[in-house]
Amino acid sequence: MTVFDYCNPVNLMFGPGQFSRLGECVRPGEGRALLVTGRSAARRLGYLDHAVAMLRDQGVDAVVYDQVPQNPTDEVVDAGGTIARDEGCDLVVGLGGGSAMDAAKGIAVAATHAFPVREFLVADEGGNKRMPTDKTLPIICVTTTAGTASELTPFAVITTKSAKQKSAISSPLIYARVGICDPQLTYNVPPEVTATTGVDVLCHAIEGYISTAAGPLTDLAAEEAIRLVGAYLPTAVADGGNQEARYHMSLGNLLAGMPLSNCGANLMHGLEHPVSAHYPDVAHGAGLAALLIAYAETCWEAAPKKFARVSALLGGPEDGSQAAAVLEELLDKVSLNIKLSATRGFSKRLPMTRLATWAARLRRPLAVRTAAVSWTSSGRATRARASRPAPGSPRRP
Ligand SMILES: [Fe+2]
Repeated sequence: MTVFDYCNPVNLMFGPGQFSRLGECVRPGEGRALLVTGRSAARRLGYLDHAVAMLRDQGVDAVVYDQVPQNPTDEVVDAGGTIARDEGCDLVVGLGGGSAMDAAKGIAVAATHAFPVREFLVADEGGNKRMPTDKTLPIICVTTTAGTASELTPFAVITTKSAKQKSAISSPLIYARVGICDPQLTYNVPPEVTATTGVDVLCHAIEGYISTAAGPLTDLAAEEAIRLVGAYLPTAVADGGNQEARYHMSLGNLLAGMPLSNCGANLMHGLEHPVSAHYPDVAHGAGLAALLIAYAETCWEAAPKKFARVSALLGGPEDGSQAAAVLEELLDKVSLNIKLSATRGFSKRLPMTRLATWAARLRRPLAVRTAAVSWTSSGRATRARASRPAPGSPRRP
């Protein structure tokens, strides 16, 4: 018998057509919103204009901030915070993939606190970092990818440019008030982005599944998310207009967001974040894909039953030792069976020891604990059975 906590306060709107309900998400008295998005896709595809019109119909004036790049930085977030403050915005709407939504969450904090967002991301000499207060602006997230599940999580992952450190604000105060996940918005996502974001879904599910914080509820969600990625990601990559595949990948994204929110991520994300912090051109999911096989090969023996399920859910034998091979087969199907040296932005092979060095530079120990491995601030991975986190303790994305 397992004792567990589960909390997720996001009002979720899921399914084809739900984007058209954005206007319902604002409340009386909210007259101005900062609409945060990337530099081109949302505008090109008409989502931005539609969002502005829906907000206007509710009497909400939308101020557009469309400067969010892949792997958003603290500078971008602070600039957005200044705009939100100067324009007197009452709420922040994130429209896009994980980068836009995470930037929106960071802006909701930056706009309402008299400190640079860096101080909420990077610990000081004493190992402490600032936490958001209830002054944080309300947040609405509309996802246009099936990937980060940021519309469902209490995390905002942001790169601190000066420290080349990708870390997260992790607080219940940055849960979206409403999260909209409309698969129709993913129909135009190009194959490469579909593949990398889909691998992100898979990694959230697997990392949450083998976490020591996992419980029956998150296991159910993680297993179904893994199954859906195996069944539908190759089709979504090959045929972006396949509505059934897009629907199920969006659903998998949400289901994987449940273990991610509650259990956090662990070793793969702990190692990938330094990669895309140092090389912002590397898509998060590409970095994860480059680590995934080594991760499965390293961890399966400490959680053999769960890795056996991962293998079986992806169509392989119920055998944990085969999980890496089955995962490799899936990556082959979506053209992401890559090494770090092959990810965009790398000019030479990047050894795991370099990753360990970067990870060790983080002021706070990574604490990327799984049933299999603890990765310490000394950069050494040791096999250990980590203790279960205390209920309510913050997780790492
Ligand atoms: Fe992720």
